[in-house]
Amino acid sequence: MKKRFFIANWKMQKTFNESIAFAQKHAHGLTQLATHENNQIVLCPSFPALYSMRNMLNETNIAIGAQNVSRHPSGAYTGQVCAQSLKEAGCTYCIIGHSESRKYQKETTVDIEHKCKELIKQHITPIICIGESKLAFESGQTYQVLSEQLQPILETIATANHDIPCYLIAYEPIWAIGSGVIPEKAYIKDVFAWLHQQCSNNSDTPFHLLYGGSVNHENASAILSINYINGLLIGGASLTFDSFNAIINQK
Ligand code: PGA
Repeated sequence: MKKRFFIANWKMQKTFNESIAFAQKHAHGLTQLATHENNQIVLCPSFPALYSMRNMLNETNIAIGAQNVSRHPSGAYTGQVCAQSLKEAGCTYCIIGHSESRKYQKETTVDIEHKCKELIKQHITPIICIGESKLAFESGQTYQVLSEQLQPILETIATANHDIPCYLIAYEPIWAIGSGVIPEKAYIKDVFAWLHQQCSNNSDTPFHLLYGGSVNHENASAILSINYINGLLIGGASLTFDSFNAIINQK
């Protein structure tokens, strides 16, 4: 059975107290979810909760991920968090290139390449988000946009001097995030066949492809049945244990 990743991207939707309360209240349920050897569950709270959640879930197979990282290793960068700190706090995964970070922090592909390098240096598995806007989708430019976002990252990974167990590419059409709308199955299928080919041609580093954008327990099973999709990046539906659980245990 193929390995499946379930990444909970909590964005800025839970405070420190709420994140800790979630981990406390659902420790048993989360542990149960993570016992299936093919499931890798990664919880991504905001920065302050990373270390405490790691400690609380230490005995489980649940991994903790950050939602972003600085492109710099250290220095006078007020407000930023470096990859080494994430590593020391117990993170083994980190999301980069999320469309919300590209938009609100004005992150460029060059920034994301640097972030990827920093994570690789610390042996943190990068979860690299890519996706096209509604306009690009409607004007048939999906592959051009995805290529521009993906190629520099693939090059970074191919030329990295450090090993990572794998990297994850999360395809998240921007127009599907938080909108309740997901692309047609045939469209998703084509995108993932293309992504698989791009990544396979790149390097020997193992990779896994994830879909994100309005995933819920009703559509998860159909999405996961698509060739080359190895997991889901889940925003809104990861915020309650019941909906997250329902996605992972979909029929
Ligand atoms: P959503 O968010 O599941 O709420 O659409 C996904 C994401 O932004 O990663």
